[in-house]
This record gives sequence, C-alpha cells and structure tokens, in this order.
Amino acid sequence: MPLPTTARVVRLTAEPRGLPVPEDFTVAEEPLPAPGPGQVLVRNRAFLVFPALRTLISGAGTGLPVPHVKPGEALFGPALGEVLAAPEGGPLRPGDLVTHLDGWRDHAVADAARFTAVDPDFPLPVALVSAASAGYGALTRCAEVRPGDVVLVTGAAGAVGSLAGRIARLLGAARVIGTTRSPGKAQRLTAELGYDAVLVPGERPFAELLAGAAPDGVDVVLDLVGGEQLTAAVDAARQGGRIAVVGALSGQLDPRLPGGNSPAVIDSFRVVTLGLRLRGFTLLDHPDLAAEWRERLGGWLRSGEITFPWTPVAGIDRAPQALSRLFTGDTFGATIVEL
Ligand SMILES: NC(=O)c1ccc[n+]([C@@H]2O[C@H](COP(=O)([O-])OP(=O)(O)OC[C@H]3O[C@@H](n4cnc5c(N)ncnc54)[C@H](OP(=O)(O)O)[C@@H]3O)[C@@H](O)[C@H]2O)c1
Repeated sequence: MPLPTTARVVRLTAEPRGLPVPEDFTVAEEPLPAPGPGQVLVRNRAFLVFPALRTLISGAGTGLPVPHVKPGEALFGPALGEVLAAPEGGPLRPGDLVTHLDGWRDHAVADAARFTAVDPDFPLPVALVSAASAGYGALTRCAEVRPGDVVLVTGAAGAVGSLAGRIARLLGAARVIGTTRSPGKAQRLTAELGYDAVLVPGERPFAELLAGAAPDGVDVVLDLVGGEQLTAAVDAARQGGRIAVVGALSGQLDPRLPGGNSPAVIDSFRVVTLGLRLRGFTLLDHPDLAAEWRERLGGWLRSGEITFPWTPVAGIDRAPQALSRLFTGDTFGATIVEL
C-alpha cells in the first residue's frame, strides 16, 4: 500500500484572549515527509485533549518543561498510533501499536526512539494516552497511600481523578472523597468509580462540605484543582498528612486568570504544627513510572478492578471544540479524539 504523503494537523492560528476558542485553531492538510533512515511513520488512532494545553497556548507560567505554543505552531500531546512504516531490522513493524507525543495530527513521522511499543495483549490500548499515570505516581511515590488512609482527590471527574479513586482503594485507602463541579458527575463517581463521597463546591463553602464528609480529617490529598480546595485540604489534613500537588485546574482553566498560575492561601502554621508534607509531583520527574504504570493498569483492567472512563470525540475536525469542552466541564474521564 502506498504510504500517505499528507497529514491533517491542528495548528494554533491566533493568540487567544482568555480561554482559547475553536476559531483560534485550524485543521489543515499539509505535506508529510517520507520517513528517513531510522524513522517511523504512524497513523494516529487516538490522541488526548488535556488542560495543560491552555497553559502552553497562553504563554503564561514559568519553569514549564515544554515550550509555549505560538500562533502558527502545531499542537502536540499523548497519542496512540499504528505503525505504517518502520526501519528494517528494528523492533517495530507495520501494524504495531505505539504511544508517542505527536498527537493533534492524523499521521506523524519521527525518529524511532520517540515511539513506545504497546504490548499486543494490553487490554485497552486507548487507555495509555490518558494522563492517569500522574495520579498513580502521586499516590504511590509522593503522598504514599497507606492502608486505612482517608484520601481526598480534588478534580475527581477528569482523566487523572476518575481513576485515582479506585487506585487509592487498591492501595488500601479506607475512604476516598472526590470533588467535581457537576452533580451528575458526582453521582457517577460514587456509583461507578469507587468514590465514597463526592463534594460539589458552590452552594456552601468548600471547607464546610469537606468537614462534613471527613469529620476526623484526611491523611492524603491528591490535589488537581488548587485554590480554595487546596486551602481547605490543608485545613482538613491530619497529623502527618501528605499532600501531593499535581495539577491546578482552578488557575489553569479560569478565563479571568492567564492560565499559568494558581494562587492559594495555605495555613503555614498548620503545616508546621501537624508536620504536613506538601509536595509537587510531575510525571517528567519520574520517567521510570511509565513501564510500572502499564504493568499495573493492564493487570487492573484485565481483572476488572479498574474501568477506564473516557469521552470519545469523533474525528480531528472536532478536536478544537473538544478542548473548549474541558473548560465547560462537558466531558467525563479522559477526553480522547478518535481518528
Ligand atoms: N503533574 C503532572 O505530571 C500532571 C500530569 C497530568 C495532568 N496534570 C494536571 O492535573 C490536572 C488534572 O488533569 P486532567 O487531565 O485530569 O484534567 P481534566 O480533569 O480532564 O480536565 C478537565 C476538567 O477540569 C474541570 N474544570 C474545568 N474548569 C475548571 C475550573 N475553572 N476550576 C476547577 N475545575 C475545572 C472540569 O471538571 P468538573 O466538571 O468535574 O469540575 C473538567 O472536566 C491538570 O491541572 C493537569 O494539568 C499534571
């Protein structure tokens, strides 16, 4: 079969004011180079729509490990692809599934080292594009859940949080509390995804809701939201509490903020007196986590101990709208464009 010579690619075309809107992007057909020596050509099957794109597009934030996306540049991110061409004698063959970071396009060409083969027996390959490994890593390597812990996961209904409840339970947590802005998602998180209670901030101060759900406090926090939820989490933490700060949705996706900061008030006196541990966690600091996560996730999916909730989005043309759906909260679990 002849190899494709063009690719459809999502590019940023305008500097967004506030949150990006679909009109800030184009989906254009572009020439696709033939793979050179040592390169692999893949047809993408799926790619992730993720909130950090808002930060990368806004140009806000400091110390980011990846460059800002400027007008004219292509978006990128976690993807699942099928190999169409690979170097002779190398480990990859046409038909193999691979993960890589050249999402937001339908075909990609890159050096073979940028692709990771997916085990043909892996139960649900699309789950490997999700960022849920960040929750697993934070709960095992940063906040270190112990049997009997009470765990709070803020931002529980997204890609990371929707698996984190079950993961915390599998690691021994006695009670897992989540947060979301949507009552409908709260119901699904308790009915389907292992959460004992899910709080919907808004009608009452979040600190009051948390005190009701965890009257004796919490041992572990996986914080994906920041802001008033992080403030309340510190106030609710018990002696020796461990708080993993993994995301900052409240600052990242607020149209009034630039997308690269997320202020929160922390009672430092409490941190001192209760010996609280508050640490940031990023996947980039744990490159060895990916293989461990694949092993654990594959096992949990096979045994049925974990299910993978995701919102499929049909076709690359709908990808820019899918990013806006993250801002309105109109998706559940990981938001994944299928090609
Ligand atoms: N450190 C790392 O290595 C790492 C890796 C992956 C992800 N992260 C970070 O972890 C966080 C969660 O990532 P994710 O992939 O799981 O995202 P996500 O939850 O899939 O993101 C979308 C969700 O964010 C919530 N949301 C939207 N606007 C919000 C606002 N103004 N305030 C609070 N929540 C809002 C909505 O959920 P509701 O409708 O339920 O409120 C929406 O469905 C992000 O900050 C991300 O950048 C970090």
